[in-house]
Amino acid sequence: MPAVHGVTGLRDQVQRWRLAGERIALVPTMGNLHAGHLKLVEEAHRHATRAVVSIFVNPLQFGPGEDYQSYPRTLEADQAKLQAVRADLLFAPAVEEMYPGGRDQVTRVEVPGLSAILDGEFRPGHFSGVATVVLKLLNIVQPDVALFGEKDYQQLLIVRRLVTDLSLPVEIVGVPIMREADGLAMSSRNQYLTPAERQQAPLLYRTLGETAAALRNGRRDFSRLEAEAMQKLSAQLRPDYVSIRAAHTLAAADTNTRDFVVLAAVWLGKARLIDNIQVTANESRRGPPLPQNS
Ligand code: PAJ
Repeated sequence: MPAVHGVTGLRDQVQRWRLAGERIALVPTMGNLHAGHLKLVEEAHRHATRAVVSIFVNPLQFGPGEDYQSYPRTLEADQAKLQAVRADLLFAPAVEEMYPGGRDQVTRVEVPGLSAILDGEFRPGHFSGVATVVLKLLNIVQPDVALFGEKDYQQLLIVRRLVTDLSLPVEIVGVPIMREADGLAMSSRNQYLTPAERQQAPLLYRTLGETAAALRNGRRDFSRLEAEAMQKLSAQLRPDYVSIRAAHTLAAADTNTRDFVVLAAVWLGKARLIDNIQVTANESRRGPPLPQNS
């Protein structure tokens, strides 16, 4: 599978495909690929005739003191994995190719509202960095379709909003979370965990699952559910937040909400883990009314 590092080379290849009537998919990643990323590539083949994968550890989306320097860079191994899932082209630009004028003065895009809540509250500037690089990648590749994982649920919604608000001619496809056998969502950052921490990590998914089950069973005392989940997580992890939101907007859930998403972020050793579960209320299984948020 060929790799290109420059914007011009990438555009030349994509242009040839486009003239031949092919449909192009883009899967943006930061590399250190695992089965979750590869699922996006497999899904890309269902939506397009050519799958372009980008690997770029984007400095704009890392805050001061975050893991930009230590983020795992494994380009050769990634390339072999992409070959195995029949990706058609790897775009792996250097920082200077993406931000030739330096990163400080670069034009940025901001998706207001959605970027300020949840993870945005704990990682100021993060989603502006994500939105900026995603817009840039979409402009460089100009794909027909781009695929993003539901693992980064808030990111997916922000990308959808970016595409709608800026009228970008691309379809955004969300792909369900790939998990390890014990439920832990696959993530490049899982490798920061020590063996002992790795044993504790599934508590995140288990706790989200319990909160999701409570919602399914009709509980609507959202603040209490969140507090209970925070308490469970705190036994072994250091949670940043647990939040029950409306799945399509990330607005605070209320008694009219039918489609929920329960999101959480926790620290475990050096790793910050995020995860979420979507829940659709089942009318027939709803119990008697329960106390509302106090
Ligand atoms: P990265 O963390 O490398 O993830 C790349 C894509 O893979 C994202 O869309 C992410 O949601 C998806 N992904 C990661 N783990 C997954 C899992 N366990 N199951 C399903 N999908 C999973 O997200 C980013 O990179 C960056 O922010 C990026 C969008 C590339 C912009 O820099």
